[in-house]
Amino acid sequence: MKGQVTGYLLFSLGTAVIGSLQFGYNTGVINAPEEKLRSFFNQTWMQRYNEPISSGVCTIVWSVAVSIFSVGGMVGSFSVGVMANRFGRRRSMFLVNILAVIGGLLMGFSTICSSYEMVIAGRLVIGLFCGLFTGLTPMYVGEVSPTPLRGAFGTLHQLGVVVGILIAQIFGLEVLLGSDKLWPLLLALTVAPAVLQCILLPFCPESPRFLLINLKQEEQACKALVRLRGTEDVNKDLQEMKEESAKMAMEKKVTIAELFRSAAYRQPLLIAVMLQLSQQLSGINAVFYYSTGIFSSAGVKQPIYATIGAGIVNTIFTVVSLFLVEKAGRRTLHLLGLGGMAVSALVMTVSLLLKHITAMSYVAILAVMLFVAMFELGPGPIPWFIVAELFSQGPRPAAMAVAGCCNWTANFLVGMSFPKLVELCGPWVFLIFTAFLIIFFIFTFIKVPETKGKTFDEIAREFGGAPPPAASSAEDPGATSSTAITLQASSPEK
Ligand code: GLC
Repeated sequence: MKGQVTGYLLFSLGTAVIGSLQFGYNTGVINAPEEKLRSFFNQTWMQRYNEPISSGVCTIVWSVAVSIFSVGGMVGSFSVGVMANRFGRRRSMFLVNILAVIGGLLMGFSTICSSYEMVIAGRLVIGLFCGLFTGLTPMYVGEVSPTPLRGAFGTLHQLGVVVGILIAQIFGLEVLLGSDKLWPLLLALTVAPAVLQCILLPFCPESPRFLLINLKQEEQACKALVRLRGTEDVNKDLQEMKEESAKMAMEKKVTIAELFRSAAYRQPLLIAVMLQLSQQLSGINAVFYYSTGIFSSAGVKQPIYATIGAGIVNTIFTVVSLFLVEKAGRRTLHLLGLGGMAVSALVMTVSLLLKHITAMSYVAILAVMLFVAMFELGPGPIPWFIVAELFSQGPRPAAMAVAGCCNWTANFLVGMSFPKLVELCGPWVFLIFTAFLIIFFIFTFIKVPETKGKTFDEIAREFGGAPPPAASSAEDPGATSSTAITLQASSPEK
């Protein structure tokens, strides 16, 4: 009875996606209160040294506070494999929330303690927390979803992210929490969803794939599946997992080093990493971190509202993608998104070059909206969940760690270098992203397979099987358990 959507499944997915919301919130939250934070740094400095902070030092403290989040993200995402295998998917999500509480409290009490170091430390801890969730949520969602809906539900992670960004943009308005007094609360608010998730998680099941394949607890896995699918007839799911499990008996957990060493994982790993890079090097965060500046340089009068407009378009198109992804497929949507972004980046460049013409400020707004819309069709949601699809149970956590870490590193590089690039290239800056977009379009066209509607096992087999088989034994598309035994026997992994 595949494809069945129960309230319990939706509840479990909704609970996991609180982690995505947190990632989005903490990505978006730091922009609006920039001036307030800078003046807090200054006050603290005055108290300590009796002189105002120099503008150079203030900018350094500010950029460290912004970018240390991504450094935490790199470390957090890289640790995801170890954690998910050791504690399981559900318990890991539970434990990771401790970081949100620590980080939120550090930032929330920074003004009371007159310590800007606490803001920086808090951002680092929150980065760690978000990095872990960019692996844990897509992994859990991919593993509990029925195959025919894995893409649609996979998109929920990105939906959580964009709603989180939007909430942060709105709460960050001066009249709400973005004021002189309330900004510490704006930053500390991340504690609330963490507590909520900890209350809800004990009611969610552990991933049945983790129970069966990693822990060999067939009865527990079956029970979880029955509740998730709302039917006793879960044999097909169980059978599929058992086949995967049999093939993997020899390589239960794959370490990151093994992932790189084994030829069988080379193709999917290359694709996973390139898709993550295509997401970040598309320049999306140049827009999300600096859109207010982009809009004002294009002559827009009220840039903050244009920024919130971009957040709304962002959310709407993620929902569009959610409904399209199982029909149109991952590959098509990713190509469409990358192509559309390349065109929008060109239009944006023209509008910035011709900004002396008044109407061009509207063209700039439209171009940014189109850029964001195209991003959410494919390059936003797909890279996050396709990694879980490209790998079977054994290598999945390690692959998610590597892919996530590449994503965060590229995110960090774009965030850090964009202001400098604007200085160097002026209105031409978005052409850099156009060039990247074209390269990734060509790569996707040539290399990325369609994974829509296929089981994890079928996808793994397309890449030559998992674990690495002798080429001929993996060819048979109807491969069953007998092939599984051949594969086990020929596994050179351990
Ligand atoms: C994706 C990216 C993230 C970006 C967001 C924008 O989730 O990973 O860096 O800020 O999309 O919607």
